[in-house]
Amino acid sequence: MKEYSLKNDLDHILITEDEIDQAVSQLGEVITREFQNTSPVFICILKGASVFFTDLIRKVDLPITTDFMAISSYGTSTKTSGVVRILKDLDHDISNKDVLVVEDIVDSGLTLSYIKKVLFERGARSVRLATLLDKPARRKIELEVDYACFTIPNEFVVGYGLDFQEKYRNLPFVGVLHPRIYSEDAL
Ligand code: IMP
Ligand code: MG
Repeated sequence: MKEYSLKNDLDHILITEDEIDQAVSQLGEVITREFQNTSPVFICILKGASVFFTDLIRKVDLPITTDFMAISSYGTSTKTSGVVRILKDLDHDISNKDVLVVEDIVDSGLTLSYIKKVLFERGARSVRLATLLDKPARRKIELEVDYACFTIPNEFVVGYGLDFQEKYRNLPFVGVLHPRIYSEDAL
């Protein structure tokens, strides 16, 4: 009998572990340069960005602090509901801080544009956005993304933190989910 593998649910691998490692290291260097002489707060958007976040912060040589926020803009399907809700808020005050929001993927842009607005309302000095993946074809709102490791086509991807119905976050690479996996889901 064939051994179980999460990989069997993928159509193909889109971004390999090596490609991710390289891009994250490069981004860490860029951020280290561009945030010189500041002590930024890195905000991880749970849960999707958690893997990217923990890799990225170790490539940044600055006196950063970290905080975590959970937002819901999705149900369990692969389409956005357009509704953004804070499920877990920050632990610390961000007034007068330089903030870097770290996200897994920018799709419609609704989540990050909402978060950016909230952080400015709370008095952040600056808010920059970093994402592992950018899917510009799906944008519903104009949004300036400061740092994006990869621009990807309009396909539903999982792995390296990204999920489908809470699964596949632990894949060490990014892959396109096989349509048969979500075909029973109401799309
Ligand atoms: P946005 O508000 O539409 O930009 O939604 C961004 C959020 O939707 C991300 O943080 C992900 O949680 C989720 N998302 C969007 N596209 C994908 C995908 O291809 N795979 C997994 N999650 C996705
Ligand atoms: Mg997310």
